[in-house]
Amino acid sequence: MTLHHFVLILHLLAAAVWVGGHLLLAICYLPTALKKKDPQIILNFEKKYEALGMSSLVILIATGIWMAYDFGVTFETWFSFSSGIEKVVSIKLILLFLTFICAICAQFFVLPNLNETNIHRMAVIIISVTTIAVTMLVLGSTIRYGGL
Ligand code: HEM
Repeated sequence: MTLHHFVLILHLLAAAVWVGGHLLLAICYLPTALKKKDPQIILNFEKKYEALGMSSLVILIATGIWMAYDFGVTFETWFSFSSGIEKVVSIKLILLFLTFICAICAQFFVLPNLNETNIHRMAVIIISVTTIAVTMLVLGSTIRYGGL
């Protein structure tokens, strides 16, 4: 096994945790929380998932950038949208930035005073982050065919 292959396996495990966790939240917990108007269901999930989810995101970023360098997609080439793989990496970095924005909105503006009347705001954030996560996975899958 090459080092790149090992790093790719770490990337895939972290992607499974990140995408899987968000799909579970969006498909199983969120509809129940909305139906019962019970924000505690979301808060309990967040509390249990936070450490695992954050570690998986850190691993995704570190391994993703590592593999991008293996493909010659270095810092100076980012956001030039000039080659197939570089395009995918740059779009992934933009989506990563959007994920950070969603996390900041959730942590500072929505979660601190989440209640039954504003629970739909959390739903918008959860669905956005989940859609972004699935898009990142689909984009990743294009790289072995040369990117976009
Ligand atoms: C939520 C975040 C992410 C998810 C869910 C994700 C998911 C994936 C998946 C499923 C693959 C497919 C691997 C294969 O073809 O077997 C992949 C590949 C890849 N990802 Fe990510 N990724 C994420 C973030 C990132 C970031 C932030 C970067 C870099 C800036 C990155 C760079 C790459 C690269 C370079 C590959 C190609 C690896 C290879 O085929 O050897 N990823 N990603």
